[in-house]
Amino acid sequence: MVTTRELRERPADEPITMLTAYDAPTAEIVDEAGIDVILVGDSMGNAVLGHDSTLPVTLEEMHSRTAAVARATDDALVVADMPFLSFGVDEADSIENAGRMLKEADADAVKLESGPHTVELTRRLTQLGIPVMAHLGLTPQHVNELGGYQRQGTDPDAAERLLELARDHEEAGAFSLVLEHVPANLAAQVTDALDIPTIGIGAGPDTDGQVLVITDVLGLDEWSPPFSKQYADLRGVVTDAVTAYKEEVENGDFPADEHSHVESDVDDVY
Ligand code: KIV
Ligand code: NA
Repeated sequence: MVTTRELRERPADEPITMLTAYDAPTAEIVDEAGIDVILVGDSMGNAVLGHDSTLPVTLEEMHSRTAAVARATDDALVVADMPFLSFGVDEADSIENAGRMLKEADADAVKLESGPHTVELTRRLTQLGIPVMAHLGLTPQHVNELGGYQRQGTDPDAAERLLELARDHEEAGAFSLVLEHVPANLAAQVTDALDIPTIGIGAGPDTDGQVLVITDVLGLDEWSPPFSKQYADLRGVVTDAVTAYKEEVENGDFPADEHSHVESDVDDVY
């Protein structure tokens, strides 16, 4: 079983592997492959819910998907992403919303898109026993405020602010830090400055771990960011399967005899 403590203590030469998953069958595959951390990311808004940003994702959607992933996962650490406005507005609501992910959905930790407004919240959640993964750099819930999904921390002032915030979140008790879409040299500098592990996406090779979005890895999306890598063409595989099924129904090849003479137990109605 992967724990927050094991991740914190992991030697620097053993990279942490993390992938997103949003459903039970995918989580089971990712877990059995030995990935360390499964993130139920709010990227599900784009990846599986058909939205064009993460903003519309609700707490109930995250809760339901996190529970499905947790049911299918034996070894990996399951981290639930806190969706837009489910944290940082009111402290009591933030704690209740994050706590539900552990108490009801069986997550092991939560992730918060971090900023000056999440330092004290990270401290409070950690004190209560809710482990927090911080997230700096490109924080997609800020897309409207940022005016797009550009790389962050690209000028010296922004880089300095990011480093300070990383230190503040470590000091507040975060057990790890995601760095998204920042220059590789900044990610390396932050990784050097912190004791807790950094996990990069579009942040170069020098973080303590890497994370990608599962639908990008599997080639299920029409579009994926340039910093991700496609390891399979599931879109092609699924298109071929669906097309073959359609053709076989249309030309009468399916169902064949073997699919038609299925004996069923009277008690076993399906
Ligand atoms: O929602 C997500 O998938 C994420 C990762 C890209 C870190 O936040
Ligand atoms: Na996210």
